[in-house]
Amino acid sequence: MDTFMQSLFLIFITLIASIYVYVFHKKKQSTIKNLPPGTFGWPIVGDETYQFLFQKIETFLQERTKKYSSEIFKTKLFGESTVVMFGPAANKFISMNEQKLVKVWYLKSQCKLFNLPDQNQTQEAMQKQVVVASAPVKMLGFLKPEGIVRYMRNNNIESIIHKHFITHWEGKTELKVYPLVKSFTISLAFQFFLGIDESNYVAKFATKFENLYYGIYSVPVNFPGSTYHKAMKGASEIREEIQLLINDKIDGLSKGKIMDDLLAHIVDAEKSGKYVPKIEISNIIMGLINSSYISIAVTLAFMIKQIGMRPYIYQRILSEHADIVRSKGYGTVLDWESMQKLKYTWAVAQETMRLYPAAPGAFREAKTDITYEGFIIPKGWKIFWAFIGTNKNHKYFEEPESFDPSRFEGNVPAPYTYIPYGAGPRCCPGKDYTRFVILTFIHNLITKFKWEVILPDEKVSGALVPIPAEGVPIRLHRL
Ligand code: HEM
Ligand SMILES: *[C@@H]1O[C@H](CO)[C@@H](O)[C@H](O)[C@H]1NC(C)=O
Ligand SMILES: *[C@@H]1O[C@H](CO)[C@@H](O)[C@H](O)[C@H]1NC(C)=O
Repeated sequence: MDTFMQSLFLIFITLIASIYVYVFHKKKQSTIKNLPPGTFGWPIVGDETYQFLFQKIETFLQERTKKYSSEIFKTKLFGESTVVMFGPAANKFISMNEQKLVKVWYLKSQCKLFNLPDQNQTQEAMQKQVVVASAPVKMLGFLKPEGIVRYMRNNNIESIIHKHFITHWEGKTELKVYPLVKSFTISLAFQFFLGIDESNYVAKFATKFENLYYGIYSVPVNFPGSTYHKAMKGASEIREEIQLLINDKIDGLSKGKIMDDLLAHIVDAEKSGKYVPKIEISNIIMGLINSSYISIAVTLAFMIKQIGMRPYIYQRILSEHADIVRSKGYGTVLDWESMQKLKYTWAVAQETMRLYPAAPGAFREAKTDITYEGFIIPKGWKIFWAFIGTNKNHKYFEEPESFDPSRFEGNVPAPYTYIPYGAGPRCCPGKDYTRFVILTFIHNLITKFKWEVILPDEKVSGALVPIPAEGVPIRLHRL
């Protein structure tokens, strides 16, 4: 096509699109009043999915908040009419109306990757499946503080930690933090959930889980080389492998082998038909390992970077941990009581999660026409609830861009202004596990090493989740 023809073609498309917008808009206006402000983007040609997936999520929110002077706006994502909402009022509203006005909704990519219940099923059927799937984890108390400490200890987590530090940190003078903390979080998850500590085996699956993670927020097009394709491939390989592990556990249990990992417990319970249909087991395990991997690693990487850049923070954390060493000795697995004492360390972790949030938000669907702040959210529309919407707002956090853990000392943020784990009935059940892993890692690191950050201005890549572009290189000194 020559330039003239191309221009003609473009004008033609634009004309059609404008007519479409006009008619569509007219029709909508006449049926529903008071929709939130916002645009459905360019009809036919595309919606705002691209910006959502590839622009920094904060920028995506800020630009639209400014344009519509509103913390609620409509857009079209993945072909779905969607309302994006955030802020304390929205946080309270959604968390209080879970199941009443809104229900959980997953992106098609997430459903396909994790074999989540078909969205076409009735609400009851879906709810039942979710309850059944999470039952063993709840009943065994695996994610409760006492459960975590107990199962970690029974699964000899101490040796995983020692092995990690000896292999990756001791004797090194320069290293990159992010790949190492990824290796740590996946090793811990494999030991805790599956009872596996062979590092070569774990390493083989680390990439598959990372690909899976990146597939969740991807365009679900399945051609070789695409993010989604890699994720699908990883997911099916992981599922196959867990099937094999289930057989191992059945075999081990029949021989009277003592196993205290989650998979063994689920398999054992399943034998008596008590908890879970067998096919669901691999989905549950895959979901849990997925949740325990990248998000904790990202938090740890940025936390270690921030500590390395601020000697006064390093000193305060160190003295907190030195107290524990004095009373418990070196290299112990932290018990829950010690963890309660690590108040300042945890404040630093919270401040890290404010500035580098690993969970940007989640989707819901309107179960009915919803009225919120004078706007209507029509039944069936999707809602993107942005947990991060308050994190950098100067109304709730003074000098929001500065890293200042003292905001979390003593005084807590106002209700619904800081929800890194979500809020309400669906809020994250993994928060105690997260706390255990972060505090345990920092405990072992800070009582052995001091470090300097090589690239203080390192770029942050990633759109929905911040990723340190260079992996946080540091210079390491043994204490
Ligand atoms: C830095 C670490 C983590 C962050 C920031 C985080 C954040 C979140 C958030 C915001 C939600 C709410 C999603 C929603 O409202 O739809 C959630 C749900 C969930 N998280 Fe986490 N999480 C973390 C670690 C973990 C870990 C370690 C586990 C498991 C061991 C876990 C398991 C889950 C599960 C199963 C849900 C779904 C709950 C439900 O839908 O009822 N998370 N997480
Ligand atoms: C869900 O239902 C719709 C309409 O009834 C149908 O077109 C679609 O194929 C169904 N989806 C699945 C995954 O079965
Ligand atoms: C996988 O982990 C990510 C990050 O924590 C989370 O957003 C997603 O919901 C998880 N998916 C499942 C099915 O667990």
